[in-house]
Amino acid sequence: MNTSMTTPRTIVTGTGHYVPPRIVTNHDLEKLMDTSDQWIRERSGIAERHHVDAGVGTSDLAVEAARRAIADAGIDPATIDFVIAATLSPDHYFPGIGVMVQAKLGLGTTGALDVRNQCSGFIYALSAADQYIRAGTYKRILLVAAEVQSTNLDFSDKGRDMSVLFGDGAGAVILEPNPQDDGRGILSTHLFADGNFVSHLWMEKPSSRDCPTFQTSFFDEGRFAPKMEGRNVFVNACQRMPEAVRAGLEKNGLAIEDVDALIPHQANDRISLMVAKGLKIPVEKVIRNIDRFGNTTAASIPIALDEAVKSGRIGRGNLVALTAFGSGYTWASAFIRW
Ligand SMILES: CC(C)(COP(=O)(O)OP(=O)(O)OC[C@H]1O[C@@H](n2cnc3c(N)ncnc32)[C@H](O)[C@@H]1OP(=O)(O)O)[C@@H](O)C(=O)NCCC(=O)NCCS
Repeated sequence: MNTSMTTPRTIVTGTGHYVPPRIVTNHDLEKLMDTSDQWIRERSGIAERHHVDAGVGTSDLAVEAARRAIADAGIDPATIDFVIAATLSPDHYFPGIGVMVQAKLGLGTTGALDVRNQCSGFIYALSAADQYIRAGTYKRILLVAAEVQSTNLDFSDKGRDMSVLFGDGAGAVILEPNPQDDGRGILSTHLFADGNFVSHLWMEKPSSRDCPTFQTSFFDEGRFAPKMEGRNVFVNACQRMPEAVRAGLEKNGLAIEDVDALIPHQANDRISLMVAKGLKIPVEKVIRNIDRFGNTTAASIPIALDEAVKSGRIGRGNLVALTAFGSGYTWASAFIRW
């Protein structure tokens, strides 16, 4: 008698994304600060991004993306047995958006986990979800990543290096164990961090080190706005994302030629092209949509994934590689047999 049982892999059974309707073009930004459409396009590949209107928070975008993923999976939301939410821009300092998404979807007392890994948040959260599902702890996880960056960017000349790059949006997936032993599902995830670079890409304030935490002088000094050392971020992103992808190729005994679609975190199109070059993967296999959304931080990969699946660029059986890099620094990759 064959008693061996393989652990079921985690499959994505639904995807969805949502961006707020208001489009902000580079020309709109030209009216606010000393910048130009040409500078932004040449340096980042971004033409436009979406910004929320007042009164709309990250959890609102998250819920809409979640509803679309639920509809795509064709499931009753009441059957979701765990929620994971990734964001660096929660509606409130605490609690996180996981519980807000859970309540807005009417999920009773279902557990909700918040993940704080910035641009790598979706892959870190995907890794956690994968462990829960393979262990048999949960059978249907809603994973949502969402950001509202626009309400805390500095749209003066001083903040122009950051504020032209970021956009608002949300992406979601439904994750379940694969009922078949057909090789489909998450093959592996690979998570990395180097906390020596905390201050290279961060929002310094509010900080629990300050007493009191909120001081008017910090507002006057602009220390509540996110800041980065752009060139250092650029160089590290171009190095770390290929490293993370190579770690996954090695683990699974695969070659870069086996990858059908690579979805890099949409940080900057120049970074995505450098990652493709570093990995020697044809650029046609790289999913890029930053021109229309800007950098939506944790949401960028699930938004791109949803678009790629819906447009047919990713199909059943394809090998999909995800990779991200961001604040922390954190970086990661995931390999999925779709
Ligand atoms: C920010 C970034 C686009 C800047 O591109 P760059 O080619 O490195 O540009 P530089 O830093 O050399 O800046 C060139 C000049 O443009 C200016 N500049 C910065 N932002 C500008 C803007 N929005 N419009 C016009 N000029 C701008 C700079 O002040 C600098 O001026 P100076 O030469 O007089 O000092 C680039 O460093 C980058 O993409 N970094 C990574 C960002 C990122 O992905 N962050 C999120 C990671 S998850």
